[in-house]
Amino acid sequence: MAQNKKVALITGANRGIGFETAKQLGEKGITVLVGARKLSDAEQTAAKLKAEGIDAHGLQLDVTKAEDRSAAAKFVAKTYGKLDILINNAGIASSDGLKSRTSDTPDDELLKVFQTNLFSVVAVTREFLPLLKKSPAGRIVNLSSILGSLTLHADPKSPIASFKNFAYDSSKSALNAYTIHLADELKGTAIKVNSAHPGWVRTELGTEAAPLEVPDGAKTSVELALIGPEGPNGRFIHAGKELPW
Ligand SMILES: NC(=O)c1ccc[n+]([C@@H]2O[C@H](COP(=O)([O-])OP(=O)(O)OC[C@H]3O[C@@H](n4cnc5c(N)ncnc54)[C@H](OP(=O)(O)O)[C@@H]3O)[C@@H](O)[C@H]2O)c1
Repeated sequence: MAQNKKVALITGANRGIGFETAKQLGEKGITVLVGARKLSDAEQTAAKLKAEGIDAHGLQLDVTKAEDRSAAAKFVAKTYGKLDILINNAGIASSDGLKSRTSDTPDDELLKVFQTNLFSVVAVTREFLPLLKKSPAGRIVNLSSILGSLTLHADPKSPIASFKNFAYDSSKSALNAYTIHLADELKGTAIKVNSAHPGWVRTELGTEAAPLEVPDGAKTSVELALIGPEGPNGRFIHAGKELPW
């Protein structure tokens, strides 16, 4: 039988924005399932949250691995009977940062970045959609980036115009396309799907140069996880405001 308390799964929750998102959702009384590539990381993360009074459970979930995805979904089905919130947070930067020229982008780089930032989001969501459909108000939050905005990249005067890395940026543009397509498919259901830009956040991915502290960087994910029936669906949001696609 499905439990009454809300249940959230956060991928890549062992550090950075994912950890903080799990913490903030847990502090609101939500059961948080913290996914991490390694079981030891997942268990340590859950223990850290439990020590703060949060109902947390660690799940081994390398989002690129089909066996992890299906085992995680089976566990959630058996234990909770539903999933209320899926935060597709796990993501990787391009290994060559902003140094690469678009025309030099190697195939293996594109494949690696798309594997985590797009294909795995599609696969994780496919696996958990039946459980999200059992929730009275399923919410899917895809961690995108303002660097995925084609509108802003096409404008030479935009603040991101010079921050171009084709592999990372296009993986997030494609993720945004997934948000729009899935939200359309699910319109008329209780599920809402949105893309979140967390801001430029001081994590390993965001680097020391980023202006935002991690607790602020988790706010958009948390807000979108908790929107009500009148909230946005199929939108690209940062701090409550819409971004151009
Ligand atoms: N920080 C920013 O300024 C910024 C800006 C825009 C968008 N974002 C997006 O926000 C999300 C979180 O970024 P972050 O800054 O918190 O990054 P981060 O500190 O580098 O953390 C990334 C997390 O994703 C996990 N991860 C990577 N590949 C994975 C896989 N195959 N399976 C499961 N987990 C995996 C990492 O696990 P390991 O510890 O095992 O590596 C880690 O927990 C990403 O999608 C990123 O693109 C960040």
